[in-house]
Amino acid sequence: MADNVVWHHHPVDRDVRAAQKGQQPAVVWFTGLSASGKSTLAGALEQILIDQGYHTYLLDGDNVRHGLCGDLGFSDADRKENIRRVGEVAKLMADAGLIVMAAFISPFRADRQIVRDIMPPGQFIEVFVDTPLDICRERDPKGLYARAERGEIKQFTGIDSPYEPPLAAEVHLPAGEISIAAGVNRLLQHLHQQGLLK
Ligand code: PPS
Repeated sequence: MADNVVWHHHPVDRDVRAAQKGQQPAVVWFTGLSASGKSTLAGALEQILIDQGYHTYLLDGDNVRHGLCGDLGFSDADRKENIRRVGEVAKLMADAGLIVMAAFISPFRADRQIVRDIMPPGQFIEVFVDTPLDICRERDPKGLYARAERGEIKQFTGIDSPYEPPLAAEVHLPAGEISIAAGVNRLLQHLHQQGLLK
């Protein structure tokens, strides 16, 4: 950042915005392989939070790549930039007082750590959607694994691009073994235990 740019403090800050909404802001960050269930779990959690009167937003990899990150591909460098951008956006949304669901493969530990580090303590909840590669490959809802195996898509996560699983995620969901409802219940339980939900 240039040294001729300084932070401007405004009268309304993140605490005021959150208080007006009557909730604790947070970023619930879903990481896992393609077709692991990230988006489905994030969407189901958001639906319940909305039904209960919370103010939320869902940032989803596929969707964000239609706009904000439409210039990025799937090289290591582009994935890093993707996560940097969406991490900053998630932080801004939490500043606005929202509970943010973020569903991104986010394959690199260092990049997820960078997002954790820019969030206030306790407001970044990493959720490892731990579905084994074989199950994701079988599901293959978009036919992308088949295309990657035929060599039609390069740098596909789990095929010819790495995935670094979290070492200490706040929530570990063995999503190949449990239902979406059970996964969402575990998430709700964790958010309650952390005092993030009423
Ligand atoms: S990343 O690694 O966090 O930057 O990826 P993300 O922004 O979450 O985008 C993942 C979705 O992009 C589709 N897709 C690919 N995924 C992985 N590798 C390659 N090469 C690729 N090409 C396209 C795919 O639909 C991913 O969606 P999900 O929901 O994860 O299946």
